[in-house]
Amino acid sequence: MAEQHILTPISLSERLEYVARVKEWNEQYTAEQGKRRGCFVLTFGCQQNEADSEKIAGMAEQMGYEIKATPEEADLIMVNTCAIREHAEKKALSIIGQYKHIRARNPNLIIGVCGCMTARDHRRNELKMKYPYVTFTLGTASLHHFPKVLWEVIRQKRRLITAESEEDFTKTVAEGAPVRRESGYRAWVSVMYGCNNFCSYCIVPYCRGRERSRRREDIVREVRELVEAGYKEITLLGQNVNSYGKGTDCDFADLVAELDTIEGDWLLSFMTSHPKDASRKLIDVMAEGKHIARRFHLPMQSGNDRVLKAMNRHYDMAKYLDTVAYMRERMPDIVITSDIIVGFPGETEEEFGDTLKALEAVRFDMLYSFIYSPRKGTPAAEMEQVPDVTKGNRFDRLLATQNAIAAEKNLPMQGTTVRVLCDGESKGNPDVYSGRTEGGKIVFFGGTPDMVGQFVSVRIDRTEAFALWGKVE
Ligand code: 5AD
Ligand code: SF4
Repeated sequence: MAEQHILTPISLSERLEYVARVKEWNEQYTAEQGKRRGCFVLTFGCQQNEADSEKIAGMAEQMGYEIKATPEEADLIMVNTCAIREHAEKKALSIIGQYKHIRARNPNLIIGVCGCMTARDHRRNELKMKYPYVTFTLGTASLHHFPKVLWEVIRQKRRLITAESEEDFTKTVAEGAPVRRESGYRAWVSVMYGCNNFCSYCIVPYCRGRERSRRREDIVREVRELVEAGYKEITLLGQNVNSYGKGTDCDFADLVAELDTIEGDWLLSFMTSHPKDASRKLIDVMAEGKHIARRFHLPMQSGNDRVLKAMNRHYDMAKYLDTVAYMRERMPDIVITSDIIVGFPGETEEEFGDTLKALEAVRFDMLYSFIYSPRKGTPAAEMEQVPDVTKGNRFDRLLATQNAIAAEKNLPMQGTTVRVLCDGESKGNPDVYSGRTEGGKIVFFGGTPDMVGQFVSVRIDRTEAFALWGKVE
């Protein structure tokens, strides 16, 4: 296995030098025009991307931009892309295509594309050739270069569509970058970057580089400051959080145990865990913890051992079920969620049947289901593919099976009182508020503005597969 680095934060002085230059350029504009230049950040994909976008927005603000809610108001647009499935890439490209019109109205508009898609050679070429108004790309491991790259495109009035360096892919991180958090009570904290697992269907290790962990003291400081600032739920992020600190004297369970000692009324959660590395030690720390949310996202991907092997997952169903059994032994009320891919190359009807059986055996509270999408450059893309109609049919059957299980699992919550972190008015009905339980289940209830960002007690009177309804007590 590749050596894992505990990252040494790189010198901030170079970044700050470019921050100062862009800032001066923006201040000059404000003095002449009487208004500030705007920046709009659009995010696709996972929580890691959301966390990265908060850093991009933080750096843009530091450079004197005003963060805007629409692309039309912006002088700088940053599109943070996802490459996990074909659909995500197509969606980002289609939106970038629409920016052509905004650029036609504002020839000084700078458009930066960042995120996983920019690590794909053919996509960068496509951006270069078919989207001439895209000014620059910025890889996920190069966020700290944002001010420098921006300054270069401003000064030299040229396009910079380039691949990331090996150095950035393996060693560095935007430690110390300002973060403009979207929420005042839920926060993401990245603890490690990259992935070494190379599951045969997955593009992530090619896009986000090798596993690198942040220093323990930097994470502890960040989480402590967030709790002190009133954040109520803090989610530790990593493609494979259980690999945190591998090869050092602090593993992920140690980190979680240390964070749990931070006093306050707050919840700690984390994602994502790989079943091959989800340790009993971590489960014990959770069971004995004070602030650790009793929820575990443990992607199973398939319920069949041959498919798991072809996926290069390094566990079998016996191991998976053993981990789940231990979690429930230590924490009977734990909420367990998972990811499943249907239609992996070569998956037979019988093998898919094993996945359905596994759902019945485990009984997940929630499931994120995906139709396999071939990713160019991964081993599975070269294997014999399952026809689209078969994939679609399996997907529907998977959802039907899971919906029945989730509905049954939520039923006993009727009449109980749960602690909910309130998110505010629900979409479409301002009288109904929504929030999430410790396990991450969505709850609707009659609320008031003062509840937003606070824990409230809700007595549940109705449940369905995807949501709970109740009244604040
Ligand atoms: N096709 C479909 N789903 C995928 N995932 C990862 N790669 C692919 C792919 N090529 C799913 C996995 C992973 C989740 C984040 O996305 O289930 O756990
Ligand atoms: Fe992709 Fe597997 Fe790494 Fe998760 S663990 S990011 S599925 S390669």
